[in-house]
Amino acid sequence: MNVKGRSAIVTGGGSGLGAATAQTLADAGAKVAVLDLRLEGAEQTARTIGGLAIECDVGDADSAAAAVAQAREAHGTASILVNCAGIGPGAAVVGKTGPVDLDWFEATVRVNLTGTFNMIRLAAADMMTHDPNEEGERGVIVNTGSTSAYEGQIGQTAYAASKAGVVGMGIALAREFAREGVRVMTISPGPFDTPLFGSMPTNAHQRLLDAAQFPDRAGKPAEYGQLVVSIVENPMLNGESIRLDGAIRMGPR
Ligand SMILES: NC(=O)c1ccc[n+]([C@@H]2O[C@H](COP(=O)([O-])OP(=O)(O)OC[C@H]3O[C@@H](n4cnc5c(N)ncnc54)[C@H](O)[C@@H]3O)[C@@H](O)[C@H]2O)c1
Repeated sequence: MNVKGRSAIVTGGGSGLGAATAQTLADAGAKVAVLDLRLEGAEQTARTIGGLAIECDVGDADSAAAAVAQAREAHGTASILVNCAGIGPGAAVVGKTGPVDLDWFEATVRVNLTGTFNMIRLAAADMMTHDPNEEGERGVIVNTGSTSAYEGQIGQTAYAASKAGVVGMGIALAREFAREGVRVMTISPGPFDTPLFGSMPTNAHQRLLDAAQFPDRAGKPAEYGQLVVSIVENPMLNGESIRLDGAIRMGPR
């Protein structure tokens, strides 16, 4: 699908991978709605790219429905959805003071997995109202997994479970939406140079950088955006999770 002239929604667009993706899609000619829980972050990105900022909690049904409607009103029905909103708080499941609060697990799953699903169900229903292009495509959805979906580290149980859920639902969604010409892909990044990665404890941060193979560095957010555009443009990419990680394989810590 050609990006040019398409309406796109990017969640978590106020920072990191989402902000870079909003920029890459705008550079390729898309009209981009930048959704974020933090409106000021969304506004900053929207100002830079000439897009629309919308405050949205992806885990909330009403908030997401209102955001999708606002994007539709401004830019037309979205053909592209990129789910980048995410959180990654670490904790021991059984720590010095006993079992971790259940809230920790539920809060992580609510944003990363439920939030991704919430946006998909709303945006996909909209996409299916499009006339198909010459290839039969009506829309493309790109979700953000993580290498932690495959090699969850100690302290990442909630995060790893949420991201494995995102990876796992990809093929089921791609199969369900096949008849409608809506593709669903997942990008599973290794360490990328964003505020989320920077917020990790220094030693864990350094260990991840030490594990880098080639290139011997963290990913650049623009490289994530570049892959999003490639996925949108390539109709054969569907129902798969692509590791974007420079061959890193994460150890237990
Ligand atoms: N940076 C990495 O190394 C890395 C690696 C693998 C996967 N990821 C994943 O990539 C995605 C983007 O991460 P990032 O590194 O750019 O992080 P980031 O913290 O820079 O950006 C995440 C954005 O999501 C927003 N957000 C959080 N909760 C939200 C909610 N409920 N509704 C709407 N927006 C919400 C935040 O306000 C923030 O702007 C996340 O899903 C993350 O798990 C990141």
